[in-house]
Amino acid sequence: MSQSPEIWRATYEATDLESLSCAYDEWAPDYERDTREHMGYVAPEVAGALLDAHLESRESKVLDAGCGTGLVGEALNKLGYSNIHAMDYCSGMLKEAERKQVYDQLIQADMSKTLETPDNSYDAAICVGAFTYAHLGPETFDELIRITKPEGVVCFTIRDGAYQKYQYRKHMLKLEAEKAWELQQMLDEGYLLKENVTAKFCAYRVLDS
Ligand SMILES: C[S@@+](CC[C@H](N)C(=O)[O-])C[C@H]1O[C@@H](n2cnc3c(N)ncnc32)[C@H](O)[C@@H]1O
Repeated sequence: MSQSPEIWRATYEATDLESLSCAYDEWAPDYERDTREHMGYVAPEVAGALLDAHLESRESKVLDAGCGTGLVGEALNKLGYSNIHAMDYCSGMLKEAERKQVYDQLIQADMSKTLETPDNSYDAAICVGAFTYAHLGPETFDELIRITKPEGVVCFTIRDGAYQKYQYRKHMLKLEAEKAWELQQMLDEGYLLKENVTAKFCAYRVLDS
C-alpha cells in the first residue's frame, strides 16, 4: 500500500518549516503520482488557466511561488509561457522542478519571510497548493504583491477548510481596502477531486499604491 496518505497528512500537521520541508523532501519523488493519480489533483491546470485569462501577454514574466515539483510551470509552459521563475523552500521539490526544464531560474526561499526579490520584479505571481493547513499564512500575500508590478496579477489557491480556519479572507479584504490589490475573479472549484476537496481560486490585479 502507498505511504502517500501518511506523508500527505504529515505535510498538513507540520509544526514548523523544517519538518514541513523534510516531509516534502521525502515525498518529492512520488508527489506527482500520489497527488495526480491517487488524489485527483487538478489545481495547477485550473489556476494556470485562470492566470492566463487575466494576463495580456504570454511573454509575461511569471513567478511560480511554492513551485513544488513544477506542475504549475509545466501547465503554464503548455499555454505558451516561457519566462517563468520557480521558488520553493524544499530542495527536494526544487530538484524535481528543475528536471521539468520549464523554468529560467530556481530560487530557494522561505516565503513566510521577507524575500530578497526586489519590488516589482514580475508581471505575475502564481501560488498553487501552498495556502493550506500548516503551510503559508496570509502574510505571504503582502510579499507576492510587493514583488509583482502594478497592474500585474497575483493568482493563488486556498484549500477549503484552511480558508475557513485561518485569516486569509480577512487579510484579502484588508488589502482590498488599502487598495493594494483589486479582486478580478474568485472561483470555487475542485482541487483534489478524488478526495472531494475544493478550493478558492483567486486572481487579483496589483494596484499602484
Ligand atoms: C502542496 S505543494 C504545491 C506545489 C505545487 N505548487 C503544485 O501545485 O503541485 C506546496 C509547496 O509549498 C512549499 N512551501 C510550503 N511552505 C513554504 C515556505 N514557507 N516557503 C517556500 N515554500 C514553501 C512546499 O515546499 C511545497 O513544495
